[in-house]
Amino acid sequence: MSRPTYKKIVCAYSGGLDTSVMIPWLKENYGCEIVTYTGNLGQGDDLDRVKAKALATGAVHAVVDDLKGRFVDEFIWPAVKANALYEGQYPLHTALGRPLLAQRLVEVALETGADAIAHGCTGKGNDQVRFEVTAQALAPQLGVVAPLREWELLTREDEVDYAIARGIEIPITREKPYSIDHNLWGCAIECGEMEDLWTEPPADAWVMTQDPSEAARGSVEVILNFEQGVPVGIDGQGMDPVKLIEALNELGGRYGVGRIDMVENRVVGLKSREVYEAPAAVLIHMAHMELERICLDRATFNYKRKVAQDFSNIIYDGLWFGPLREALQAFVDQTQQTVSGEVRIRVSAGTARITGRRSPHSLYDMGLATYSHGDTFDRQAAEGFLKLYGLPYRTVAQVRRSQEG
Ligand code: ARG
Repeated sequence: MSRPTYKKIVCAYSGGLDTSVMIPWLKENYGCEIVTYTGNLGQGDDLDRVKAKALATGAVHAVVDDLKGRFVDEFIWPAVKANALYEGQYPLHTALGRPLLAQRLVEVALETGADAIAHGCTGKGNDQVRFEVTAQALAPQLGVVAPLREWELLTREDEVDYAIARGIEIPITREKPYSIDHNLWGCAIECGEMEDLWTEPPADAWVMTQDPSEAARGSVEVILNFEQGVPVGIDGQGMDPVKLIEALNELGGRYGVGRIDMVENRVVGLKSREVYEAPAAVLIHMAHMELERICLDRATFNYKRKVAQDFSNIIYDGLWFGPLREALQAFVDQTQQTVSGEVRIRVSAGTARITGRRSPHSLYDMGLATYSHGDTFDRQAAEGFLKLYGLPYRTVAQVRRSQEG
């Protein structure tokens, strides 16, 4: 195939086999210099080693930076405020991380005078969509190369042979047969036996959580404190956002909370099965939604449920850097002004249950709600209300009866 000419490409680099093979492959097939970019989203890898490996594999320059704080403030918290769970379940950790990585990739390309970026996504996934739409939105002049859609290395064995022939260090440990994407907000695991939808995920597939049947015994109570729609502390102790998420991942993980086994609809048209682990995301989302139940009026609460679905689809579909996400986020932020308070959750093996909620902005009026002494609700007013509320239905009934008769 004829290829465009680039003099320097900034390549998204994880240190794994695909992106390591990409370095010599791009140099050989595009005849250009390679700069690698690795962002720390909390994937737990040793990034000094990743950097050294990038340079040893032939990059002229390897950029590594810590994105955890930005990831939480600019991506995770907006998703929490919007209650963004794709198809009602997936907390979107991969989908939220991609636009940030792609944004940094573009920035590094512009800073280093590169004329293209490259990513290691396959041709049938969602991640290529997220990388490439972001690049088009932020720097349409840059070229984008997706080696996995181009190269002739069709199996892992092909890639290993290619790497050995070029002296690239390959992981010595027998890798699990899964594809895993892990960051601060969760972990996604697919492939292997799980491609059969009827097969239970094997015990060795899980990364962040204990098997609930072997989890810590008994239960523990945890209170999440919120300010304007985002968690700011645990049990009344203010906490740094990254530490707060890490602490809830640890706690939920110990009790086997946050496992999700899901078949989802991909952007590119196919269905796929993925298992997710997201202890902190599950706890934070459930607490946040509970707080909205007392802090938002009925109309806003219900309208927001529709926005949640649209907002999740925008994230999943790779459209983060677009005008609709910006507009919906402004709407959501407006609704969160009064979403402050605290939610108590009881965590035990495999489950988390809400046991209490309170807020200075709570719209719950015990005087109105009570069935005991001190009831302030005007029962007489209900009679007139129901005459008018039922009026359309009396009218329909009358018309139907006269037509039948
Ligand atoms: N299905 C998820 C998404 O599209 C996660 C993709 C990455 N999964 C993985 N196991 N590598 O956002």
